Amino acid sequence: MNKTSEKTDTVMARTPEINSAGARPGCGEKLLEINNLTVAFNKNGRRGVVLDDISIKIPRGKIIGLVGESGCGKTVLGSSIIGLLPERGSEISSGEINFYKSAGERENLLNLNYHGMKKYRGSKISMIFQEPMSSLNPVYTIGSQIDETIKNKNRDLSGAEIAGRSIEMLSKVGMPDPARVYSMYPHQLSGGMRQRVVIAIALANNPDLIIADEPTTALDITVSEQILFLLYTIRDNFNSSIILITHDLSVVANVCDEIYVMYRGSIVECGGSREVFSSPKNPYTIGLMEALPEFGAHKRPLHVIKGNVPSIFTKIEGCKFKDRCARASQICECAPPVKFSSDTHYYRCHF
Ligand SMILES: Nc1ncnc2c1ncn2[C@@H]1O[C@H](COP(=O)(O)OP(=O)(O)OP(=O)(O)O)[C@@H](O)[C@H]1O
Ligand SMILES: [Mg+2]
Repeated sequence: MNKTSEKTDTVMARTPEINSAGARPGCGEKLLEINNLTVAFNKNGRRGVVLDDISIKIPRGKIIGLVGESGCGKTVLGSSIIGLLPERGSEISSGEINFYKSAGERENLLNLNYHGMKKYRGSKISMIFQEPMSSLNPVYTIGSQIDETIKNKNRDLSGAEIAGRSIEMLSKVGMPDPARVYSMYPHQLSGGMRQRVVIAIALANNPDLIIADEPTTALDITVSEQILFLLYTIRDNFNSSIILITHDLSVVANVCDEIYVMYRGSIVECGGSREVFSSPKNPYTIGLMEALPEFGAHKRPLHVIKGNVPSIFTKIEGCKFKDRCARASQICECAPPVKFSSDTHYYRCHF
């Protein structure tokens, strides 16, 4: 069996097999490094911290999973990287987001103004947003929307050359009959085809980093597996790094090289897929895993993490998960320390 078909089988099987890529967090050539990023929203005179001292390393050519329940801050983190936080009400109070153009040359994206950031968007960093329909303009053809992205970064290309590239991009993301789809409108396509178009736009200028925010949530299982397989091919063929944002741990287990688990704006556990899945340490990560049907295959009721992620405007002292954690005790009133279970696997917990 060749390498590609092995990967297809793994994704298609949709079992919680642990990705064998064996990558270690932060290992390999660095592409992006977030240090101590804190972001808050101000609303009705109240301030809520949505990202609390986040640090993440993204190596080149890897798929990094960012998981956590709804409201943990995953989309806000992705939007912070690409400079698309809402202008009103958001506040980056500390930290840096360093993009490595080469091993020795880096730029802190937080120092860039609108025009500086525009040079990165689409060409070096692109984002696939949660809902494909909201990223596509219903009154323009698919072709003209991909053309526009390519034209923005390639002013010297002729119309015919741009159209040729757009059709090539559609073909690269596995679109059936790309030349015909080029002239169609978004409403004429199925959900899976629209998601492929959004991915084609994200890839159009060969970015170094793709932030894919729940790219499969709105899709049925077979299409979502095809899209996940596409992420593999993108990583391998373009050597792009991908941040895959999802609340589905089984997707991460199958696709990602490394995992960051996020809870209420903090990274609570991080490591290579293999080590986190084989030996999760933080009770929140354990709770997410036990809630997976695949992991609970021994005819026992699925585990449910009681309660919800607290609002960013609720003040919490100490461990933010303590009110939902079965292991919580007095000590959890203090902020949990960072503990290392290996050089590359760390978690925040008192236990
Ligand atoms: N513009 C905003 N103003 C105020 N609060 C916001 C704003 N955008 C997001 N939030 C809050 O920030 C928190 C994190 O939101 P975010 O969208 O990043 O969550 P998420 O992890 O992506 O969730 P989901 O899985 O549902 O997409 C939520 O509590 C949300 O209500
Ligand atoms: Mg989100």
